[in-house]
Amino acid sequence: MTLPASSRFQFTSDLGICRILNGMWQVSGAHGAIDPTRAIEAMFAYHDAGFTTWDLADHYGPAEDFIGTFRRQFAGRYGEACLAEIQAFTKWVPRPARMTRRTVEEAVGVSLARMGVQCLDLLQFHWWDYANESYLDTLSHLADLREEGKIRHLALTNFDTERLRVITDHGIRTVSNQVQYSVVDRRPEARMVGFCRDHGMTLLAYGTLLGGLLSEKYLGRSEPRRSELTTASLQKYKNMIDAWGGWALFQELLAVLKEIAGKHRVSIANIGVRYIVDRPAVAGVIIGARLGISDHLADNARAFGCGLDASDNAAIEAVLAKSRDLMQVIGDCGAEYR
Ligand SMILES: NC(=O)c1ccc[n+]([C@@H]2O[C@H](COP(=O)([O-])OP(=O)(O)OC[C@H]3O[C@@H](n4cnc5c(N)ncnc54)[C@H](OP(=O)(O)O)[C@@H]3O)[C@@H](O)[C@H]2O)c1
Repeated sequence: MTLPASSRFQFTSDLGICRILNGMWQVSGAHGAIDPTRAIEAMFAYHDAGFTTWDLADHYGPAEDFIGTFRRQFAGRYGEACLAEIQAFTKWVPRPARMTRRTVEEAVGVSLARMGVQCLDLLQFHWWDYANESYLDTLSHLADLREEGKIRHLALTNFDTERLRVITDHGIRTVSNQVQYSVVDRRPEARMVGFCRDHGMTLLAYGTLLGGLLSEKYLGRSEPRRSELTTASLQKYKNMIDAWGGWALFQELLAVLKEIAGKHRVSIANIGVRYIVDRPAVAGVIIGARLGISDHLADNARAFGCGLDASDNAAIEAVLAKSRDLMQVIGDCGAEYR
């Protein structure tokens, strides 16, 4: 399998990424037990197929260590020079408190050591509590570490548009914000996309496949019971569907997506990815990878071979018009965490 050139995106002047990123929350333990040896072997399969970009975090169980092991084995197989083909985007999700330069430097140091790199490609910063304004000092320390070469690019995750503005007004440059964005959750379109476009930022989308609910597997199925939702992601996005409009409306949406998918000879997941990847300001879509447990590589590659037309978008819009406005129900991006 070789992905087409359209699978690549110039994320920054010095970093090209695959527009489908491999999400590593799925190795954290909350999505089934992961065997490290099988997981690392699976990482080679993803990379070799063209899925070269990884999304991880300090708190996703062994994810940062997996990157470290993968890089070491990769250098052994393909040579040190080829390590530049891998992009590994981590996050730092500290408990809100006053942050000294030393605390910030130590946290970054831990990620550097675990991932086996001299410089983090991208550090995405999350902050739980806007009332604690230490996030601005913390970001300033991170920006200093970027100037010193420990972080290549600084980014955010789950910040709302109001705080993107505060951060930008403080003169802190960030390249992207990682937010939930799917055919069900289109909150980024209310305010965030416009801000990103005006300020040269991009979005990395997660939750696009709703933990797997946005697929043939759930088409025509009765509403799953809590006990049937066996991963943290299925539980998270089932809640989102409930807030959005409920299972019956979701079935209507799946039926329309299936029709569109049939027309383009692809899967529902492919249509769900394409719908988001083609939106303004979107750099890429993160798809969770249960490494060594399940594998959707071949199917996800097909998302690069299709495109939605005006009639497809109109059919989707007709269903979405019946849903609740999540901006009203939840608030801007990231509000579900606060
Ligand atoms: N910043 C944040 O706060 C945040 C929050 C959540 C997630 N994330 C990031 O986003 C990543 C994705 O996580 P997510 O929770 O949003 O999950 P997701 O990508 O919506 O769902 C992943 C699941 O979808 C299923 N799947 C993948 N490709 C498929 C296909 N082609 N057809 C059918 N099913 C398919 C797989 O289920 P099976 O394995 O069961 O087959 C997979 O485990 C995470 O790993 C993480 O990197 C970030």
